[in-house]
Amino acid sequence: MMTEIKDNFDRTFKTLRVSLLNTCNLACVYCCFGNEDSKENYRSSKGQMLTADELLKLIAKLHERLDLDVVRLTGGEPLLYKQLPELVSGIRAIGINDVKLTTNGLLLENIAPALKAAGISSINVSLDAIEPEVYHLMSRRHDLSRTLKGIEAAHRLGIEVKINSVVMKGLNDSQILPLLAYAFQRKMKIRFLEIMAMGHLHGSADKHFFSQEEILSRIDTHYPASPLPRKSSSTSNYWQTADGNVFGIVANESEPFCSDCNRLRLDAYGNIYGCLSSNSPISILETDPQRLDDSLREALAQKQSIKFTGSTLSMLHIGG
Ligand code: 5AD
Repeated sequence: MMTEIKDNFDRTFKTLRVSLLNTCNLACVYCCFGNEDSKENYRSSKGQMLTADELLKLIAKLHERLDLDVVRLTGGEPLLYKQLPELVSGIRAIGINDVKLTTNGLLLENIAPALKAAGISSINVSLDAIEPEVYHLMSRRHDLSRTLKGIEAAHRLGIEVKINSVVMKGLNDSQILPLLAYAFQRKMKIRFLEIMAMGHLHGSADKHFFSQEEILSRIDTHYPASPLPRKSSSTSNYWQTADGNVFGIVANESEPFCSDCNRLRLDAYGNIYGCLSSNSPISILETDPQRLDDSLREALAQKQSIKFTGSTLSMLHIGG
């Protein structure tokens, strides 16, 4: 029996988040500053992006050591990745059955059948507004109807769809109740995210911060709800309304969840990271099994002890 890779908080790696590329077809206000995005908001990894086969080999190498439960594919925007369905079935063929996706949904309508056939287990779609003007304000694009068509298409196929909404005070907090109504009508899970001080927001996220408490009191006016027990390693707290609908809040500022974080990140250049906030790539391209253990321990040491304190990196380069 190999010893488990573990830190002093008993944290291990069980969920792998793979960033497939660092480009996106939206330009959300919390993610992109605009055309003059600062260089420091970019990951320092250089080199060649891996092919899907190379990426699969690395995922298999990590799975062999860690016995992973879940792989979540992110980006940038992972639906821009040409070989996505092949990658999903390839990961399942390695023996990791739970393959999930986080996307903005823009390209989802056409690709949903192929993802379903490849065995995707659930899809998180980022949807920060249900009114076109507010969607544009948040994403700087006019693509709400395409996103909604993507959500509906996946849902119709029987794929579990969860909605992720980042809440920013004064920009889209008006959307909390309409988004809830949209999700509840379709029996979809929805989660609201407190804004994280990442990328160009680093140092100035306060202005738009809308807390878990504020989100809850807004929801309480229409849907009184009671808390559900927190699952270990979950990023989200969940509540259930009197009608049995479930919503969540990812309260990374008000209620940090670093203490039992089990996530490992892999980028498209073959680097691992133990935390969203780390910009110290650890390449595992050439590592033999002994070195892999050292690299994994190094990544584990990147985890924060109490809370995520923000980072100059934009989510574009790491994926949520
Ligand atoms: N704070 C909170 N959530 C963010 N996301 C991207 N950047 C931030 C941020 N600064 C969200 C996206 C998506 C998920 C990948 O992370 O909206 O839902």
